[in-house]
Amino acid sequence: MIWRKTWRNEISLAVRLLRRDGVVALPTETVYGLAASIKSEVALGKIFQIKGRPLLDPLIVHLLDYNWISKYAYIDGLRVNIKVLTDAFWPGPLTIILQKKPMIPAIVTAGLDFVALRCPAHEIFRKVLKYINVPLAAPSANPFGCLSPTTAKHVQDSLGDKIPLIIDGGACSVGVESTILDVTSDIPCILRPGAISASDIAQALKVPVLDHSPSTSSAVAPGQLKQHYSPNTRLILAETAEDLSLLVKNAFLSQTTEKAAFVYLKRPHDLYCANDIFWLSNKGDYFEVAKSLFDMLQNLDKAEYDVIYCQKAEQKGIGIAINDRLTRAAAKFAN
Ligand code: TXA
Ligand code: MG
Repeated sequence: MIWRKTWRNEISLAVRLLRRDGVVALPTETVYGLAASIKSEVALGKIFQIKGRPLLDPLIVHLLDYNWISKYAYIDGLRVNIKVLTDAFWPGPLTIILQKKPMIPAIVTAGLDFVALRCPAHEIFRKVLKYINVPLAAPSANPFGCLSPTTAKHVQDSLGDKIPLIIDGGACSVGVESTILDVTSDIPCILRPGAISASDIAQALKVPVLDHSPSTSSAVAPGQLKQHYSPNTRLILAETAEDLSLLVKNAFLSQTTEKAAFVYLKRPHDLYCANDIFWLSNKGDYFEVAKSLFDMLQNLDKAEYDVIYCQKAEQKGIGIAINDRLTRAAAKFAN
């Protein structure tokens, strides 16, 4: 029970820091976030500075529950019933775009009229929200454009010297950022794919849902850059496990001096050059793949490989989010 006591101390320290214009790294079920109170313009400014994030890229605002929404955003007159949506998916990895109320400062939304609202499921983040009783803006706790952090160590390694407190809540259970859903137009529309898919949402709302995430269309939401989540090591994607196996065999036979890591979604049967073969899930379960994806890339990026070859997922369910992150992580190495 000692760890719970430690948490209590850390949570009260986090609340004190957040009330005094500070920022704190907190675990969520998706990725670690770098949190600031929406009441502190100073702390909000620090988020952009610490991450090296352009001010044009708006932040997601985290709430404790559905009852907090109406103070910060308009929910009347929408085609979508927000109560039905939040009953189905909150707390959890769904961010909802709504028209903002004046309580949300312009720096949070990059001057837009719309705000992104999310209700995280992680116990630690929820406790901090409950005690501070103010929404927290929180982007992923990584330098802008780099791989997302799914453990406290990832945050420590990349931003540790700039953040006064990182609360360690273990490895994130989802591992990819929340699904972002815009409900302000006639048809709800996904702007960023995540663990909750368009069909999950369509089923709950009983209306069609468009998927306009950059991985499936050319429409781009602010901040949804083609190149993002990048490792330093060259990352090349293989469409299927068979394609990846061909690359493995070629590397094995050609005796190249290039040091390559090969990442399958599922444990392969043939283990050529076994030292450099990795997999994200023993059975190829896409939720396990998503959970370990950023951790695998972070570890391989530090492991002195010249190149990382990684298999893509099938374009369905959370596989869409996995491919979205992989494609953008590999974008700077394309050509
Ligand atoms: O799972 C998550 O959503 C994590 C955890 C920490 O909650 N947060 C996260 O934040 O991924 P960030 O800042 O790394 O990504 C937020 C994305 C950005 O691409 C941003 O442009 C978009 O959300 N966004 C924020 N506000 C928006 C708005 N009003 N309209 C459209 N997109 C918005
Ligand atoms: Mg991010």
